[in-house]
Amino acid sequence: MNQALLTRLFKSIEGNESSALVRVAYSIIEEEKKKGHNGVAERLNTILKNNLADNSSSLRPALKVTRITNFKVPLDRRYKLPLASHIEHEGLRHNMILPTDVEDKILRIEKEYFARERLAHHGLRPRKKVLFYGSSGCGKSMAAEKIAWDLALPFYKVRFDTIISSYLGESASNLQRLFESINEFPCVLLLDEFDIIGKQRNIAANDVGEVHRIVNILLGLLEEYNGEGIIIATTNLDGVIDKALFRRFDDFIELPKPTQKEIADLLKLTFSALQLDLKIDLPDFAKAMHGMSYAIVVKVANDAAKKAVINSKDKIELEDLKKSLAENAELNK
Ligand SMILES: Nc1ncnc2c1ncn2[C@@H]1O[C@H](COP(=O)(O)OP(=O)(O)O)[C@@H](O)[C@H]1O
Ligand SMILES: [Mg+2]
Repeated sequence: MNQALLTRLFKSIEGNESSALVRVAYSIIEEEKKKGHNGVAERLNTILKNNLADNSSSLRPALKVTRITNFKVPLDRRYKLPLASHIEHEGLRHNMILPTDVEDKILRIEKEYFARERLAHHGLRPRKKVLFYGSSGCGKSMAAEKIAWDLALPFYKVRFDTIISSYLGESASNLQRLFESINEFPCVLLLDEFDIIGKQRNIAANDVGEVHRIVNILLGLLEEYNGEGIIIATTNLDGVIDKALFRRFDDFIELPKPTQKEIADLLKLTFSALQLDLKIDLPDFAKAMHGMSYAIVVKVANDAAKKAVINSKDKIELEDLKKSLAENAELNK
């Protein structure tokens, strides 16, 4: 990464010493030192330390990302619809509560990305094809966005609806064009629930072979990909995962349901801007919510918070949180 960009990035980093982004920042400083760029390393270190010391400032500008303007998402030839959709940096979800082992694995992907040039000098390749798997609402798509956020990379999500629905015969070439277009463009490309292609219903019997071919082409493109960015695929755990799938990826990471501690942390995070009724015991609620996905925990918390805001109450009431929990418990069955 060029020095001006690094400096700008570092100026926008906030958080505390233990936050994932700050740890990535320190590993970049180490990288620069190892490359012999001691001056750069020292300057980045000073910027980072100043930022962390100045952590109370709420006026700090948001993370600045260099926008790469000469990249155009290829369009489906027939309907001229984009084959991938872009999410602006500011819109990326990234504030996650994760088990330490998952956080470490995500951090390893990020560190390897930053160290990619040094790895290449040793004939090594960073992890750039990653599979997130786990049950619904446990942060698979969010983790992909978080990686793009942490690395300040543009984020694109493949539009399987456009790719497949346009015209089956063109699906393979759509996929090929999309992969070609991103080959030299550093970005995070998300293949969200990518196994959905193979599970399509309403496919005429004579098209089954064609769908099979498209799945194989996608797997082939994944296997061949050695571009500048990171490809992240996700799949819901609603059946046995085909073991042959795993070998297409450099890393596969399971995103489990939250433990009681993670539920309590997530409730704290979700409620952080609001006051809680003193009678609310979060660890107690976390216990009652055991087995829920992250998404449902957030929904329980948000439902109670919305009620407080709508009724112009200055804090979240115990009764409202209980009600919200009972309502949403239905969803989890
Ligand atoms: N680890 C997490 N930390 C905080 N919130 C989470 C986490 N995982 C999921 N969520 C919440 O659940 C929602 C859905 O997550 P998502 O990544 O879309 O789930 P998945 O792709 O696994 O179905 C997110 O928008 C977020 O509110
Ligand atoms: Mg998802």
